[in-house]
Amino acid sequence: MTVGVIRGMAMSLEEGSSQGKPGAKPRSNVQADAQSGVGANTQWGGRFAGGPSAIMQEINASIGFDRALWRQDIRGSLAHAAMLARTGIIEAADEQAIRGGLERIAGEIAAGRFTFDAALEDIHMNIEARLSERIGDAGRRLHTARSRNDQVATDFRLWVRDAIDGLDAQAAALMLSLSRRALEHAADTMPGFTHLQTAQPVTFGHHLLAYVEMLARDRGRLADARRRLNECPLGAAALAGTSFPIDRRMTAAALGFDRPCANSLDAVSDRDFALEYLSALAILAMHLSRLAEEIVTWCSSPFGFIRLSDAFTTGSSIMPQKRNPDAAELTRAKTGRITGALVALLTVMKGLPLAYAKDMQEDKEPVFQATESASLSLAAIDGMVRDLAADTARMQALAGSGFSTATDLADWLVRVLKLPFRTAHHVTGRLVGRAAANATDLAGLDLAEMQAEEPRITADVFSVLTVAASVASRTSEGGTAPNNVGRAARAWIAQLDAAVADQRSSENSA
Ligand code: ARG
Repeated sequence: MTVGVIRGMAMSLEEGSSQGKPGAKPRSNVQADAQSGVGANTQWGGRFAGGPSAIMQEINASIGFDRALWRQDIRGSLAHAAMLARTGIIEAADEQAIRGGLERIAGEIAAGRFTFDAALEDIHMNIEARLSERIGDAGRRLHTARSRNDQVATDFRLWVRDAIDGLDAQAAALMLSLSRRALEHAADTMPGFTHLQTAQPVTFGHHLLAYVEMLARDRGRLADARRRLNECPLGAAALAGTSFPIDRRMTAAALGFDRPCANSLDAVSDRDFALEYLSALAILAMHLSRLAEEIVTWCSSPFGFIRLSDAFTTGSSIMPQKRNPDAAELTRAKTGRITGALVALLTVMKGLPLAYAKDMQEDKEPVFQATESASLSLAAIDGMVRDLAADTARMQALAGSGFSTATDLADWLVRVLKLPFRTAHHVTGRLVGRAAANATDLAGLDLAEMQAEEPRITADVFSVLTVAASVASRTSEGGTAPNNVGRAARAWIAQLDAAVADQRSSENSA
């Protein structure tokens, strides 16, 4: 799934909702006490004489955002109707009429010709009412052996499953971009930091590949969530199941689920699939935010490690020299929304008795918005990773500053002079003190000065004090030696090239 598709999945969040509109009027029950003017609900209003107040309608309606579920709702209804016909619960002719009607409604929605009605509350009743309007009683038979409770749980699982597939593809694409840049910079050195203090030299490629590992685990978490999500609530009906002879295995299989949910109460009342998804997104967003923070730091002029092009920077309205990394800053900031979505849904769910409660209608916006933010962030980081130009000379120069090869000196004292490491650490510390006093680096000390601290030191020590020697020596598994980094980058590229090509071909055939 492309970025455009996933970003379009929650396309209509703003339409149909007055919330957040600038200048929205404060609401008053003086007007709202009067009924909204609509009659009783056409879908469930049998025992109602009057319609809801305007405030009731406004707080109740979810069509402003859940219209994003329309594709999933139609898919679920097609599967349900086919099952009802196959089991003899409805006539084959009714199923045919339902199928034709739903396909035409899908066409209307896709073309923007469908009129959504807030009086019909949500996407489920909007589509069902339109179907009955078009095909009459056959349409009114669709909701046999079904409730909006199992319907919405099914639609929402399908939506989250599609979203996982889209974000997974984007994460794979970002991993590939990072791996390619890592291969390009497998031997280019930069300072490695702890506490944001220069620690030991590393290669830029190694640093980029650290994020590839994080993203691989993010994809693993999404895949785990998808596996547990993939059970079908349809057929749980309102909460207790149904007396009709339905075939839940048939609908589950038709919708690509592994099996039906085992317990009807659980099927309609849990949203842990959405919470797991949001948890995975919150961790993913945290990773993207850390990389975004590094991009911001690297392109600040005191660092000057990288430069972003015009495509991923903005100017200042007052300071003509400015080139601001807004996309990285906004990616960093969007983490707040995504984490917020997780906390919002956890809070909605935590006090609800079984089974369904209307509170659960509040599950969708956090998920839609977090998906949108994660998708946009992945795309922005991918763009910046492909776009950035590394100032390798600057990085290399700074890689050697801050006595970054002090550990290499201590290791030499251990390896060659057989000093215990703790003793070598002390000797090196004193040499660092001397170098600092002379305003030079370790390689700038002369041999006599070294020997004043430890008489057995020989000129051979200077061979380990360069940045290049330092990184080349880190050949331990997972270490920063350029050979290791090149090998790891090539392995990721081979794996991801195949995966991304697979995704493209399945997208094209879909
Ligand atoms: N719009 C509702 C939701 O999103 C659909 C389920 C309504 N069920 C009910 N019993 N009122 O949760």
